[in-house]
Amino acid sequence: SNLSLVDKFGRKVNYLRISVTDRCDFRCVYCMAEEMTFLPRKQILTLEEIHRIARVFVELGVKKIRLTGGEPLIRRDVLSLVERLGQMSDLDQLVLTTNGSQLPTMAAGLRAAGVKRINVSLDSLLPDRFRQLTRTGDVKVVLQGIDAALAQGFDRVKINAVILKGRNDDEILPLIEFARNKGLDITFIEEMPLGNISEHQRDECFMASDEVREVIAQRYPLHPVEHKRNLSNPIQQRSAGPARFYGFADSDTQVGFISPHSHNFCGDCNRVRLTAEGRLLLCLGNEHSVDLREVVRTSNDDTLLKQVIVDAMGIKPDRHYFDLQDEPQIVRFMNMTGG
Ligand code: GTP
Ligand code: 5AD
Ligand code: SF4
Repeated sequence: SNLSLVDKFGRKVNYLRISVTDRCDFRCVYCMAEEMTFLPRKQILTLEEIHRIARVFVELGVKKIRLTGGEPLIRRDVLSLVERLGQMSDLDQLVLTTNGSQLPTMAAGLRAAGVKRINVSLDSLLPDRFRQLTRTGDVKVVLQGIDAALAQGFDRVKINAVILKGRNDDEILPLIEFARNKGLDITFIEEMPLGNISEHQRDECFMASDEVREVIAQRYPLHPVEHKRNLSNPIQQRSAGPARFYGFADSDTQVGFISPHSHNFCGDCNRVRLTAEGRLLLCLGNEHSVDLREVVRTSNDDTLLKQVIVDAMGIKPDRHYFDLQDEPQIVRFMNMTGG
C-alpha cells in the first residue's frame, strides 16, 4: 500500500512504544504518587487488541516495538503477546523496558519469544535507598534479574538511571562501575515533569545531564559515539532513541544521556506511543492523541484503523515543551505512557 507514517515535519515514524499496563509493583518517587489509582480492566486494551494495533503498525512500516508500562511484566499472560509480536517477520526489533522485578523468572521466556534488547531501570545499588526511591522495590531481586537477562544472551542490556540531586547523585560513579563490570550500557535521564506528585518537589532535585557527565569525565575520559537515528531500518542499532552516547577507551560499555531539558532531541523523533488505554500519543510531552480503542472496539476493518493511524501523524507536534517552572503541564503520569 502507499500508506506510510510521515508527519507534517517530514519525520518518518518507525518506532512504536506500547504501554501494556499502567500498573506497577514499584512506586518510584518521580513517576507515581504514593497513592495511585489504576485504570479499571475494561478501559485497558486487551492483549488481542494490542496485538491487532501492533500488527497494523508493522504493516505501516514500523520496524521497532518497545513494550513498557507501568511494569509490562506484571500484566497477566503478557508473554503470549510477546510471543505473537516476536513472530512478525517484518518487525526488526522487539525490545522491552522493565523495572527488573520479574526478570529472574521471565528472562528466559522473553529471550525465547524473540525480545532482542532489555532496558532495566536502576537508580540505586544500595538496598535502603533503592527502597526509598521505588517505595516497594527490592534491589536484590532487580540485580538477580539483570544477571538472569545477561545469562540469556540478549543483544544488549541497558540500565536507565534517573539522577536526582541529593538523592542518588553520589551513585553516578558506582552505577558506571557496575555497568562496566557487567558489560551493560547505561543511560542517565533528566527527570521529566509528568503528573503532579505533591510529595515530590521536582525543581529541588533536578540534575542536568551535563553535570552528570562532568562527574564521570573527571574519572574516565569519554568520547562521543554516534548513533544514527531515524534510519528506515533501525536494526543493528543499540539505540534509536533520544540519548546522546559516549564511550570509554577501555570498555564496551556506552553511556547515554537523555536530556529533554538541556539538549532537545525532537527534530529527529521517530516514535509514537500507545497508552495502556489505547490512546495513540504523538509525543510524550504533549497531550495530542487519537483514541484507537474506540476504533478497534467498533470496527473490525483494518483499512479503517490504518487510515486513522496515518491521519494521526498530522497532529504530531514539532517538539515537547517541558518546563520545570510551569509544572504541571502534563497531568498524565509516566506510568500511563511508559516513558
Ligand atoms: P532505545 O529504544 O534503546 O533508544 O531506548 P530508550 O532510551 O528510548 O527507551 P527507554 O524505554 O529505556 O526510555 C528511557 C528514557 O527515555 C525514558 O525516561 C523515556 O521517557 C525517555 N524517552 C524515550 N523516548 C523519548 C521521547 O521521545 N521524548 C522524551 N522526552 N523522552 C523520551
Ligand atoms: N522523568 C524521567 N524518567 C522517568 N521515568 C519514569 N518517570 C520519569 C520521569 N518523570 C523513567 C524510568 C524508566 C523509564 C522508562 O522512564 O526510570 O527507566
Ligand atoms: Fe514503576 Fe517504572 Fe514508574 Fe518506577 S518508573 S513506578 S518501575 S513504572
